Amino acid sequence: MDTYRKLFIPARPTRVILITGGTSGIGHAAALMFAALGDCVAVTGRRAERLTDLQREAEAADLPGAILAIEADVTDPAAMQRAVDRTVSKFERLDVVVANAGIGHRGPLVEARWSDLETVLRTNIDGVIHTVRAAVPAMRSAGGGHIVLVSSILGPVPGAYAGAYSASKAATDALARSLRGELKADHIRVTVLWVGQAHTEFADKRLGQPGRVATRWPTMSPEQVAGGIERALERKPRTMTVRWIDRLFIWAGRQFPALMDRLLARIYG
Ligand SMILES: NC(=O)c1ccc[n+]([C@@H]2O[C@H](COP(=O)([O-])OP(=O)(O)OC[C@H]3O[C@@H](n4cnc5c(N)ncnc54)[C@H](OP(=O)(O)O)[C@@H]3O)[C@@H](O)[C@H]2O)c1
Repeated sequence: MDTYRKLFIPARPTRVILITGGTSGIGHAAALMFAALGDCVAVTGRRAERLTDLQREAEAADLPGAILAIEADVTDPAAMQRAVDRTVSKFERLDVVVANAGIGHRGPLVEARWSDLETVLRTNIDGVIHTVRAAVPAMRSAGGGHIVLVSSILGPVPGAYAGAYSASKAATDALARSLRGELKADHIRVTVLWVGQAHTEFADKRLGQPGRVATRWPTMSPEQVAGGIERALERKPRTMTVRWIDRLFIWAGRQFPALMDRLLARIYG
């Protein structure tokens, strides 16, 4: 099989990829997938022991790529700059950024604790901005690249009882649209991935009312979402969903806003 691959499948240049929030869920699955594809992957997160575990897992599996684990909080611009500097110093360039780190909040906006809402906004909006601002100069030096912003179907279709989270993901859409115009001349593409419900630590770590999931809505594995990120890098669309059902959700939310608002208020309420 290896000989067949070498002869008939053209070698793809190794990509240098920075993923934020790779200590669990989608980021973790994406890091292992890219390392399995032979890429050089820098992975950030705050939990040092999880980063060490990830590096060990990749080494134990003898993956053809490499993983560099970097402890960094996306809400700290200096930490994100250091993460990019370490990536470039280890792998000599940066081609792809997957801005994935994020946290949710569920519950009525007015009664929510401000500290919880602030964490969501700082992580999901400021975190993306710090990541992009640190990474773009390195991507420019590499002659171009691709930024994937991991968003949610609640970005284009905000849900009741998820106001701050929906707003944070809608901000991702606005940032992407603005950045596309700014970075076109640098040959840097920007894709927003609208993710539907996935089985990760996300629901348990959600602030406000953790743990609850929409039991009637199909749930993806993090590996499925990671596959969507790889497809986004191949196809370079402006926006993308992983499944047709998520596309249907967004279409319905845009076509029938009042109906969807009522439905989401009932589901999330
Ligand atoms: N799961 C879903 O149903 C779903 C649906 C739509 C969209 N999404 C989006 O998918 C992305 C990944 O979520 P997930 O489902 O994989 O959840 P997850 O398992 O909870 O992973 C979240 C990741 O974000 C990192 N993170 C959180 N705050 C951070 C901070 N301040 N600095 C650095 N890293 C931070 C966490 O690492 P540390 O705690 O180690 O820092 C963790 O690695 C998020 O942006 C989320 O909004 C998820």
